[in-house]
Amino acid sequence: MTDPVAEAPILDQTIHTYDQDRFPFVRRVRDLVGGTDLARLDRDCAVHPAPGASDQATEAHTRFYAGFDGIRGLYHDFLRAHVLPLFSGEVCVQAVPTFRVAPPGGTAVSTFHRDADFRHQPGTVNFWLPLTPAFGTNTIWVESAPDRADYRPVTVVPGEFLQFDAINLRHGNRANDTGACRVSFDFRVIPRDRFRDTGLATVTSGTPMRIGAYYTVMAN
Ligand SMILES: [Fe+2]
Repeated sequence: MTDPVAEAPILDQTIHTYDQDRFPFVRRVRDLVGGTDLARLDRDCAVHPAPGASDQATEAHTRFYAGFDGIRGLYHDFLRAHVLPLFSGEVCVQAVPTFRVAPPGGTAVSTFHRDADFRHQPGTVNFWLPLTPAFGTNTIWVESAPDRADYRPVTVVPGEFLQFDAINLRHGNRANDTGACRVSFDFRVIPRDRFRDTGLATVTSGTPMRIGAYYTVMAN
């Protein structure tokens, strides 16, 4: 007999695909952070945080953000081709996506949470794009419905990206025992007509979550 909870559909999750020849994020990000294989980025670059430091501020993160201007055009082209068509009219998009690394033996974001608990507002839609195969304990785990806590891994590969409701669905990471790094970036989008300037800043970087800072406006 099947477990009805385990078989429950995951709400508000869609896996989209894109053409990696047109949008070569893997190669371009590999060029930014160094090394030959992002799945073994731990051999080429410090991917574990210093003791007591944020798990989102390693040498790999520094390299990504320092070089992001070099792929901003690619990111915008991707948004125009694959994300803006999912909405109508103007949308607020995260100006700089958030870079993540789940190194072997570590976690990308250690706390299971809803983004609503981290100052993000209703109407926000999350997109999560892997730059390495994401599976098992190296990927993100998401519950199937609010407060169900039946976390399951999202299995996606480069060329795919996940759309999900991170505001209401708890999600997080396990300790990565796959032996492979998971590298990814993610970004938030809110329809312009739903966006409210809350006056708040992000918990991790302190970036004001307003248009012209954390968000930029793009139109279909
Ligand atoms: Fe989150």
